[in-house]
Amino acid sequence: MTQGPSTPETAALATLRTRGVTEPIAMAFVLGTGLGSITDELKDPICVDYADLPGFPEANVSGHAGRLWIGAWEGTRVAIMEGRAHYYETGNPRAMEASLSTLRALGATTLVLTNSAGSCNLDWHPGSIALIADHINFSGLNPLIGDLSDKRFVNLREAYDRRLRARFRQAAAHAGKSTLHEGVYMWFSGPSFETPSEVKMAKLLGADLVGMSTVPEVILARRLDFRVLALSLVTNFATGIKTGDPSHAETKSVATTGAIALKRLLRAFVKEGPVAYA
Ligand code: HPA
Repeated sequence: MTQGPSTPETAALATLRTRGVTEPIAMAFVLGTGLGSITDELKDPICVDYADLPGFPEANVSGHAGRLWIGAWEGTRVAIMEGRAHYYETGNPRAMEASLSTLRALGATTLVLTNSAGSCNLDWHPGSIALIADHINFSGLNPLIGDLSDKRFVNLREAYDRRLRARFRQAAAHAGKSTLHEGVYMWFSGPSFETPSEVKMAKLLGADLVGMSTVPEVILARRLDFRVLALSLVTNFATGIKTGDPSHAETKSVATTGAIALKRLLRAFVKEGPVAYA
């Protein structure tokens, strides 16, 4: 029998098969800082270090573990990436490509991304949770540059799936949270935080949130035909907004506390079960 070309994702998939991952998964998660404890809730978890998975990120940002978890969460088969690769680590906007392809190959059709973000919206306070409805990528970077297939011309009209957002709102309401922010996330490469003028520009352009992740992942995910739900945990006011004067220590500490509320809502969301797309 002829074999397809060996790629990082086929190699990662083969490793996962040898570790006992045989059943398809329905939903995949990429967790931002502080949310790792979600994996405690998995039933019969299989955990594999990224170091053993070709193409997966090297975890080198404090607060990020670098492990892939597979198991059942509230009855739904899930894969959870505990830790992500950021553009600012290596300068590669495609750093999450092999991992996301692997999650797709495992059967996931829904991708849930979480991040921490700074707020440029005066009413969105640190500790609050926001649904991302759209993004602004003003970086000049795109993970699909160099992709030679016609599939590179990805449509981003509804990059952040409307139905998933409605489902998340419904789940949050069932969990007793009836108000959630929803808005626009603007990607900055980092790792330096924004200047006050950059935040002013972001706000003028229509952004509610600024952050250093998620956008390249969403573009890659849409290229892979994932339906995407993305959530931000507001860890601080962005530079110059009210008292906003961000630091990594502050974002990490608020993310760790705020993660408890986000975890509760994510649990309510998966409880609704896998999503059947038409
Ligand atoms: N800017 C960029 N990324 C962030 C911020 C911020 O203010 N807070 C958390 N992640």
